[in-house]
Amino acid sequence: MLTRRSFAGRVGLAAAAARLLPEMAYAQRAAVSGGDLPKDMVWLNANENPAGPPAVSLDAMREVLPTSGRYHYQEFQGIYEKIARSEELSPEQIVTGCGSSEVLHTGVDLFTSPTKPLISVAPAYEAPIDIARALGRPVVLTKLREDYTADVKKLAEEADKAHGGLIYLCNPNNPTSAMTKASEIDWLVSNMPRNTMLMVDEAYLHYGEHAEMKTALPYVRQGKDVIVTRTYSKIYGMAGLRVGFAAARPDIIQKMAVLRMNVIPIMSARAVVAALGDQQNILRDRKATLAKTRKDVCAWLRERNVKFIEPHANFMMVDTGRNAKEFIAAMPKLGVAPGRPFPPLDNMLRVTIGTDAEMAKFRDVFWKVYKG
Ligand SMILES: Cc1ncc(COP(=O)(O)O)c(C=O)c1O
Repeated sequence: MLTRRSFAGRVGLAAAAARLLPEMAYAQRAAVSGGDLPKDMVWLNANENPAGPPAVSLDAMREVLPTSGRYHYQEFQGIYEKIARSEELSPEQIVTGCGSSEVLHTGVDLFTSPTKPLISVAPAYEAPIDIARALGRPVVLTKLREDYTADVKKLAEEADKAHGGLIYLCNPNNPTSAMTKASEIDWLVSNMPRNTMLMVDEAYLHYGEHAEMKTALPYVRQGKDVIVTRTYSKIYGMAGLRVGFAAARPDIIQKMAVLRMNVIPIMSARAVVAALGDQQNILRDRKATLAKTRKDVCAWLRERNVKFIEPHANFMMVDTGRNAKEFIAAMPKLGVAPGRPFPPLDNMLRVTIGTDAEMAKFRDVFWKVYKG
């Protein structure tokens, strides 16, 4: 017999499993297994930044390390202030998290329900979709258009059909690296069905060069039903430091903050604050480095008539012309680890844009497998 207590225990366990899910699942999916992997493996599987944290952030972490025996709680208001001001927001408009993963989870948790689905595209970044499923919330995934972009009208239609829900839009999208134009996001915000929240994941926004790729933060400043998530894991090169934030109207942030685990580690917080002190230069230089390498890889693929989705992030999807599983299995043995499979785009290989040297190795290994 299922007593009330054992039922509560099971629900508690399910909720705990849901919270643990991304770290476990993504570590596992990103892992390239096998005992005889090359020691000098080039890792192009997790969209990290090979540059790592900026030098000013490394200095800031060294400085605070000896005092990390203290909680440093009194510092956090100032830290939130600096993060918020870096995007022309107020501290009441942001909540930080353990990477953007945490704030994506709270967004899904709060704005979906057993009757209000998570609505996104297939394929999109899986964490919000997995968390919704683990929490027993319905998930509706719409088809991408022919050019691999999200169909915002379809997203709105699905939200309307369900009488509300959470639209999750990753811009640029992971894994496709395709972007949603500012004009389309504008249409979506102006045509949001009732009881609907839009969550725009801008993990890779800083890598975009297209004039129509713009942040959705102005909608937050205007007080719309929009949440924007950002991370320091990608262009800032701090994936292991685990800092991200959500930006939204203060009443939305208040609801999200209640579910927040705790403050972020002081070393990570100081690293972020130090980087924000030189934000413009760091972003400009890192974007320029990536854009050049990305352009070179695209030119190389074009010369060989290999198709790919026009990339707007620090990764791209290459059409292998066959099931990409063969590449995913063969490339690590030759020293390059690409991304995992992303159904329904079964022929596509996702590769992170690394350094020029790493991409030279990618070209070598890719071509060997491509030619068979
Ligand atoms: C689109 C997207 N959003 C969010 C995340 C989560 O990253 P983090 O928790 O490190 O901020 C990732 C990680 O790869 C991602 O690709």
